[in-house]
Amino acid sequence: MYQEIDFDKIDLSQEPPIDEPSRQYFFMAQCREFIRSESARLGRVPTYSIQTFGCQMNAKDSEKLAGILQGIGYAAAKTEEADFVLYNTCTVRENANTRVYGRIGYLGRLKRTKNPDMKIALCGCMMQEEHVVAKIKKSYPFVDLIFGTHNIYKLAELLYRQIRARGMVVDIERESAKIVEELPSERKFDFKAGVNIMYGCNNFCSYCIVPYVRGRERSRRPEDIIREMQEMAENGVTEVMLLGQNVNSYGKTFNTPISFAKLLQMAEKVEGIKRIRFMTPHPKDLSDELIEVMAKSEKICRHVHLPVQSGSSRILKLMNRHYTKEDYLALVGRIRAAMPDVALTTDIIVGFPGETEEDFMQTMDLVERVRYQNAYTFLYSPRANTPAAAMENQVPQAVAKERYDRLIGRIRDISQEIAQQDAGKTMEVLVEEVNAQREGFMTGRLGNNLLVHFPAGEFFVENGQAWEKNLKDKKDLQHLLGKYIKVQLTECMGFYYIGVPVNEP
Ligand code: 5AD
Ligand code: SF4
Repeated sequence: MYQEIDFDKIDLSQEPPIDEPSRQYFFMAQCREFIRSESARLGRVPTYSIQTFGCQMNAKDSEKLAGILQGIGYAAAKTEEADFVLYNTCTVRENANTRVYGRIGYLGRLKRTKNPDMKIALCGCMMQEEHVVAKIKKSYPFVDLIFGTHNIYKLAELLYRQIRARGMVVDIERESAKIVEELPSERKFDFKAGVNIMYGCNNFCSYCIVPYVRGRERSRRPEDIIREMQEMAENGVTEVMLLGQNVNSYGKTFNTPISFAKLLQMAEKVEGIKRIRFMTPHPKDLSDELIEVMAKSEKICRHVHLPVQSGSSRILKLMNRHYTKEDYLALVGRIRAAMPDVALTTDIIVGFPGETEEDFMQTMDLVERVRYQNAYTFLYSPRANTPAAAMENQVPQAVAKERYDRLIGRIRDISQEIAQQDAGKTMEVLVEEVNAQREGFMTGRLGNNLLVHFPAGEFFVENGQAWEKNLKDKKDLQHLLGKYIKVQLTECMGFYYIGVPVNEP
């Protein structure tokens, strides 16, 4: 994996190497020269800011982009008033796009009024759409750099090109078979991390733009994934989230195929890793092998995010999901039989073309039967060039919104009832954050993914030893980040708990 590179040893008088990642190291060294001269000119180190829209994949990509920018010599800015501002965009629903356009306008004003040398860069899923790039070229000519999802590893090369060209640089690859690793990454948390196991999606659900903007499925080699996890563990990471658009398809395209369940078993053996999560499995091919591996595991968290999208078998067919309501319920039954304490969450789309009240009632019924810990609900949003966007019988907004409100009301009630079941129990959390709202409080996450806020000035157990301290100081609280502690869930607040640390090993 990425080793610290001595950029000063790279000979910049040579032609850039052809091979990756050496080529990117070369351009990082070139950009470092630029940052050096900018620092001298400005009398300070130039800063960067990255805004991430959308899913965990984008969040992971942003960590890689931040790693490259820091490697080049930029310093992280606290606000968007930075010298290099990058938006990593999402296009899964139209409202994500609308937000981005609004924000680019704001950046343009910042550039005009406060920092004419500011570089504005856009990347990610939205940029893989031709009409988006055309609109930016026309309406936002002050943008300096546009790239997509397949070439984020090339940021240094593209930035160097932009510095030389001065005008807008656009570099979009339609499809990429290349997976370039061994570049720096700047993780948000020290103790938990995302690990890409595959890129792209081959499912072509009829409403979804992801296969068009993220390309075909490509799995990373298991040895690379495990090596990355080992290195993370050596650096203090104890929780990993294995990331893929459809993790059940992992490894199917290898000459010697390997299942996702097998990969999980390999991941479990990595010393130092205590919690393993994954996202996202597709219900159509979640195997019994996977359920068995999960049920036996001490490390794989008892949480499955299992997007259902609709409870109507008729709509599911139109969505090209390859399962019926009954198939899904049977799968939930198998998962629950093997792991009675598992937390299930889901994604649901309301107002898919042709959805009738009867179809919607099937979704309501499914929610009633599954009883999700949480469900992410979305109003159907037509996406350019997807089959569903061309379907007749688009559901009027008002009808969809009314159904949506009914659905979220019921989901919320069920979620609260479910969370209530664990109230009073003592469970282990990984301490993730100093609570911003309540002084002296920390926030931890349970294995089932729910959050617990608890006062930090109580008893703690560390390495089996109890200690007590009145922790008021923010610095003292920081010291608890990344620790696993037991808390009693004293009060259920619906989607989260208030707890107290418990003095027991
Ligand atoms: N409209 C609304 N929701 C969508 N999703 C994906 N595409 C669309 C769309 N066109 C939702 C799905 C998916 C989640 C990430 O986003 O529920 O699981
Ligand atoms: Fe989109 Fe379906 Fe692929 Fe998920 S599985 S990314 S919803 S096409």
